[in-house]
Amino acid sequence: MISKQTIDKIFSTIRVEEIVGEYVQLKRAGSNFKGLSPFHEEKTPSFVVSASKQIWKDFSTGKGGTAISFLMEIENFTYPEALRHAAKKYGIEIEEDQKDFSEEAKMAQSERDQLYKIHEVANDFFQNFLWEVEEGKNIGLSYFKERELRDDIIKKFQLGYSPEKKNAFTEYALEKGYSKDLLEKSGLSIFPENSPSGIDRFRERVMFPIHSFSGRVLGFGARILRNNVKTAKYLNSPETEIYHKSNVLYGLNQSKQAISRKNVCLLVEGYMDVISLHMSGIENVVASSGTSLTTEQIKLIKRLTENVTILFDGDNAGIKASFRSIDMLLTEGMNIRVLLFPDGDDPDSFARKHPQEYVEKFIENEAMDFIDFKAEILLKNIGDDPIKKAEAIRDIVKSVSFVQNALKREVYLKQVSGKFGLSEQSLFNELNVQKQITQGQTHHVQQQQKETAPVKMDVVPLDEEKSDPFLFEVLFMENKLIDHMLMFGDIVLKRKNESEEEYQITVIEEILYHFDEEEYRFLVKGNEIIIGHVKEGIQNEELRSGNFFITFMDEEITTKVVDALLPANELENWASRNIFPPNYGDKIADQVKGDILLHKYRYIDYLIAETARELDHYRDSDQTKYFELVQKIMLMKQASIKLSQMIEYSPIKGIYVNRKR
Ligand code: CTP
Ligand code: MN
Repeated sequence: MISKQTIDKIFSTIRVEEIVGEYVQLKRAGSNFKGLSPFHEEKTPSFVVSASKQIWKDFSTGKGGTAISFLMEIENFTYPEALRHAAKKYGIEIEEDQKDFSEEAKMAQSERDQLYKIHEVANDFFQNFLWEVEEGKNIGLSYFKERELRDDIIKKFQLGYSPEKKNAFTEYALEKGYSKDLLEKSGLSIFPENSPSGIDRFRERVMFPIHSFSGRVLGFGARILRNNVKTAKYLNSPETEIYHKSNVLYGLNQSKQAISRKNVCLLVEGYMDVISLHMSGIENVVASSGTSLTTEQIKLIKRLTENVTILFDGDNAGIKASFRSIDMLLTEGMNIRVLLFPDGDDPDSFARKHPQEYVEKFIENEAMDFIDFKAEILLKNIGDDPIKKAEAIRDIVKSVSFVQNALKREVYLKQVSGKFGLSEQSLFNELNVQKQITQGQTHHVQQQQKETAPVKMDVVPLDEEKSDPFLFEVLFMENKLIDHMLMFGDIVLKRKNESEEEYQITVIEEILYHFDEEEYRFLVKGNEIIIGHVKEGIQNEELRSGNFFITFMDEEITTKVVDALLPANELENWASRNIFPPNYGDKIADQVKGDILLHKYRYIDYLIAETARELDHYRDSDQTKYFELVQKIMLMKQASIKLSQMIEYSPIKGIYVNRKR
């Protein structure tokens, strides 16, 4: 784990405008910077960076955070990955805090690090051979030229060449001090009994490095140069500690930004398909590299988009096998379209034959939804055979049964009904049969999702919130009070106690006091976490307000804080005019007081509604309990009425205030 000191050092050194500036063209706007959102196609800039607050906010998508959270968004890094990336950029040495790791875990970590390192070395070696060495230039580079690849594309995908010599790479790596053991574990070398100097796994092939999401080389795919030899056309790295074929998508690292920006991912089969499409300017594409699609791979795509278009070769024999991929994508909640290229073409050849715009239009216009696609394939050559037709329809309905969202499922079913002129009811019955059959298959997937799902900010499901106005109101006020704490928690308010003596209290303390007094149960998990830290701060005699949480570990909380600190409409005002409203402190004092009362009022109403529901439950079963609850409701009603008399809306101030007695 990265030590706390290092994290603090990173946050105090890095500049958000510099980090963001590598991805977004920023223009100065007052004390802020503005640019086009990298997460959304737009013409007018809605992306703002505040250099003084060291945060960014994207008003087109609502995202926001620190420099680190920006790296997480744009590169899809995990938190530690983003920290390491930033540290590297600013030359900050990472101090590891390893006390919570067992010796074994430390060893495993360093072994993985070594595997990453040796792949980096190999990748440089193969690239160097391609560009600098005669053999590589004559054989490897000229092969790529024959396939019409441009230099910039060869470099972008870091393509290389492995020489003919039996142990060229192994020898090189051993000389540099890498161990036999490591070379063997990496799958790059083999050391048979009779050949102690080792043999390279990859020889006389062009090399396609396979990158992780964040751009580390995990393994290689290697293509032979002659098509007539007996060995397999492609030779790939074996499974290792760092390379798990089923967890990797070829091209994801180079394509992730375009996938997220275009909000659709093209899925192809081969290395060359990805590369050719990139060369013609279509950059939102990944390949499953010859294996059938896995759940892990779909999850990688889902981090970027929920829309997938599958591109198939026209003469693809395995199309029916692809039906499995469709069902898996549907199970994961993806929206799918499918495109068949004309006979004899694959994405690679098609992209080389036609200009970018034509290819883009072709994909856009010719891709079918999965129902039409399956219908076309399944109904082909069956004539009027009613039994075969029924089978085909059943097959399509089976795919629909994998769709997790009930509303979407119904829409698809309507479409099938229209297409085949069948009643929705009979399809619905069939769907239920299919669902029972497939339940066993999807149960596992859902289970897994539950375990890995990130902590949701709202503990209350959204639908419930909408259908329960009491809940909605109290949630709203809870969030508002937390926002006040974050925005101006350290402002000191002047108050008077019952005997009219003046005292001072910070906004944080006043709101905390209120929550404690009410023994308030937080409805939003993130708020509870924030309050926990605020309390901890008070025990250490520090006031933890917005800036404290900006460098917080939990990204959802950081986002919440940024939202509180950068209200959309005020931002421009701050930048251009630097105005603070008159009597700023008084205004806040009134607002906090009013909002606390309002929260109290909403909370009591919410508790009344909740208790009333409970009441129903005991009506016939437990008279004592029933009357106890009735009593409780009466008391709460009285308190609610009293509160409603204390609060009034001040149209002048635009807030709720404590009514003067
Ligand atoms: N593949 C593989 N091993 C093989 C054949 C194929 O790993 N023996 C994988 C590769 O990732 C390949 C993909 O399956 O890119 C698709 O195979 P294919 O269509 O045969 O290759 P192409 O990508 O069309 O390669 P090329 O155009 O270079 O012939
Ligand atoms: Mn091909």
